[in-house]
Amino acid sequence: MVEVNLSGGLPNTFIVGLPEAAVREARDRVRVAIQNTAFEYPSRRITVNLAPAELPKDGGRFDLAIALGILAAANQVPRKRLLDCEFLGELALSGELRPVAGVLPALLHAGKRRRRVVVPRANAAEAALVADADVLVADSLAEVCAWLRGGEELSRPQAATAEAPTDAMPDLVDVRGQLQARRALEVAAAGGHHLLLVGPPGTGKTMLAERLPGILPPLGESEALETCAVRSVAGEVIDPALWRRRPFRAPHHTASAVALVGGGSRPRPGEISLAHHGVLFLDELPEYERRVLEVLREPLESGQIVISRAARQNTFPAQFQLVAAMNPCPCGYHGDPGGRCRCTPDQVARYRARLSGPLLDRIDLQVEVPRVPLHELTAARRDYDEDSATVRERVIAARRQALLRAGRPNAEISVRELERDCALGVKERDWLQNTLERLRLSARAYHRVLRVARTLADLEGSAGCVNREHLAEALQLRRIDV
Ligand SMILES: Nc1ncnc2c1ncn2[C@@H]1O[C@H](COP(=O)(O)OP(=O)(O)OP(=O)(O)O)[C@@H](O)[C@H]1O
Ligand SMILES: [Mg+2]
Repeated sequence: MVEVNLSGGLPNTFIVGLPEAAVREARDRVRVAIQNTAFEYPSRRITVNLAPAELPKDGGRFDLAIALGILAAANQVPRKRLLDCEFLGELALSGELRPVAGVLPALLHAGKRRRRVVVPRANAAEAALVADADVLVADSLAEVCAWLRGGEELSRPQAATAEAPTDAMPDLVDVRGQLQARRALEVAAAGGHHLLLVGPPGTGKTMLAERLPGILPPLGESEALETCAVRSVAGEVIDPALWRRRPFRAPHHTASAVALVGGGSRPRPGEISLAHHGVLFLDELPEYERRVLEVLREPLESGQIVISRAARQNTFPAQFQLVAAMNPCPCGYHGDPGGRCRCTPDQVARYRARLSGPLLDRIDLQVEVPRVPLHELTAARRDYDEDSATVRERVIAARRQALLRAGRPNAEISVRELERDCALGVKERDWLQNTLERLRLSARAYHRVLRVARTLADLEGSAGCVNREHLAEALQLRRIDV
């Protein structure tokens, strides 16, 4: 909220409410913009209060509201409409309105309180995403003032195209061979499981990871809005044609912890939040700083990240699906037929030890992506090289079953729900226990195998039981000793 008071005393303008440097600059912008809009800047003592004081007040988002507050206090525009309206926008010196970050979350918030919002025209496409919001767009301070004085109505933003064009996304049809990795990708999509791909360089790991968003079900409207709201807070421009697309974020391993998980003096969402409802791809997983990987454990568990800074806490959503890729050893060729690997067993062990057990524990699917023979790479497309649309159909059907059962993808169901929805027969349970013991796998692995087996059964369309084949395949889909 912006409150303005005019009083006697030396002409000067004060902005209170702990503004950051950008808001102090607002004082000058607002003054010149008011003058250039043919209004009079009051030569009184002006106090502007931005409340509540503890909110971050970045950029020029309050310019328009401050300008209108000052003009209303000086009786140059009527106050009537100001009370049930919110105004967002930065002012150029000419009085034109410039776009601001974070329009989408502001609209979602205002909508809850049934308030009308005026935004700069450059934010119109983003504003139009919120179908039921009461939004008006304007080009300049002059236009807003004319409207407040009973002049011409402000226009409404044009509705955006709703469908996400999936055709421009990378398609699975380009991938040759790699049947097991393809299968793992489909299972990951169907159950929301995290996925680790391990293999030598150039075998298609990055290719596969990039194709996960294209086989996931399209974002629902509220999910899409949440995702766009995060991007909007981060200052990204949202393309209305692509707003329903699932995010795919691939931060480099040299990215700082703040860039990855969020933070900074004015906390911003990081890559993990920009991947909300989409895919976070960490290529060359062991190269990331250990400290950074450890921070991932919390959001992997809770779907959000809490950033604490001094007195303030910010929570950003971070419900991402992790796809990680790595080589099996430092040179990349461990286990590759042809004996190219020159790493010592000690080097291999140290490389793998960079990944902590608790992180790997959260990755349900871990598969090898071996080298594809050259003749296969250059061969024509075979029947099993399905395209993304075909795979997505199966994913959507399988997800529907999980949603009907538990309201969530299988990767997120609790142990209790797992026991309810994935009850094994006595024979199956004994078989699984014996097998896990033989493979020296932990009790935790038991639940992970069950979750994946549940997804395999869903993909098959068998709403009922999980059988031994599902269990055996689930074990196959995490047979890597990293
Ligand atoms: N299975 C495959 N089918 C079709 N093309 C492939 C396949 N594997 C690799 N390629 C070709 O090789 C290129 C490199 O693949 P990609 O970048 O996905 O490998 P990578 O496993 O991620 O390697 P690195 O470990 O070096 O990151 C691709 O752009 C593609 O042209
Ligand atoms: Mg790669």
